[in-house]
Amino acid sequence: MLDELVLLGKDIKKWRLEAGLSQEKLAELSGVERAQISRIETGTAPGITYMSILKIYNSLGKKIYSNIETDDKVFDIHPFVKWAGGKGQLLETIEKHLPTSFNRYFEPFVGGGALLFKLQPKSFSINDNNQELIAAYSCFCNDILFNELKRQLDEHESLHSEEYYYQIRDLDKDTNYGMLPSVNHAARLIYLNKACFNGLYRVNSKGYFNVPSGKKQKVICYDRKNFDDIRRFFKSRKYVITNLDFEEAVKNAKAGDFVYFDPPYDTLEDKNSFTSYSKDSFGKAEQIRLAKVYKELSNRGVYVMLSNHNTKFINELYQGFHINVVHAKRMINSNGDGRGEIEEVLITNYE
Ligand SMILES: C[S@@+](CC[C@H](N)C(=O)[O-])C[C@H]1O[C@@H](n2cnc3c(N)ncnc32)[C@H](O)[C@@H]1O
Repeated sequence: MLDELVLLGKDIKKWRLEAGLSQEKLAELSGVERAQISRIETGTAPGITYMSILKIYNSLGKKIYSNIETDDKVFDIHPFVKWAGGKGQLLETIEKHLPTSFNRYFEPFVGGGALLFKLQPKSFSINDNNQELIAAYSCFCNDILFNELKRQLDEHESLHSEEYYYQIRDLDKDTNYGMLPSVNHAARLIYLNKACFNGLYRVNSKGYFNVPSGKKQKVICYDRKNFDDIRRFFKSRKYVITNLDFEEAVKNAKAGDFVYFDPPYDTLEDKNSFTSYSKDSFGKAEQIRLAKVYKELSNRGVYVMLSNHNTKFINELYQGFHINVVHAKRMINSNGDGRGEIEEVLITNYE
């Protein structure tokens, strides 16, 4: 790990200088402190996290990627977190609508990654703007992080109680929380996901996780075999993991690649009111921006599939594409009681 960090630091310094950036400017662009950048560049940062490296990479337009030979081995794997909008139960339907063949696989709203783990493409690019979720995926890229993640999850399991849950949940209110290694963030996310009410991920307007405890006596944080197989899966594939906005994440998709968009869905009320401009919510304006990106990719010869609610607004946005109506059981909603059947659409730019 240490050798890897020295090499990473050298690369970062080279790219920074090539881009004509001072350490101060890179600090401003990436949100990582200048002193930390200096330590990273000299390979002497003790508490260095994959997250700060990822932030620096993103701001320099670089990606974290694997550079090993890929193989085709198929693994029996599934998402390691329960995620709102998870596509587990729609997988068979989605598979029927896949392009017959494609080069790289892009999933810019990866969430729990149900389709990624099902398809197990040889070469993929996954992204989500949830930093902690991406910190968790990043732990599957490296044995040291992976083993530390499992160690911390074992600890969370053994210490679990109602009181402990709230102690871990409220860590993000501590001003030093951001300084913790990303593997701690990842372990906390997974533990909370398993121990909280209904497996929800929800933060309040201040960005604090605010889901109450699921009141479980015992919490199993991870399926050992699934974890080990996901690690093997990552080892055997060529991939890129980013923590960007979706538009940035698909910039490099080329003709013949396949992009699957599974964004936060349009609201079922479909009031067509343009009220959701707030920074983090995915309102009508974001759906419009996404449709624009979808069309640009389509014009470039990229295969594109998108899932969403079957609303009038979405049907209008994607007029002219292939709109397939499918039925899904709603697994999670914000109050946990909406488990009926709903209509969704799978929109493709190919037959
Ligand atoms: C419907 S979920 C994806 C579910 C996923 N397909 C699964 O099977 O679990 C949408 C995801 O988009 C992410 N997201 C929301 N806004 C985003 C944005 N602007 N750019 C990238 N990701 C975003 C959320 O963090 C969330 O994980």
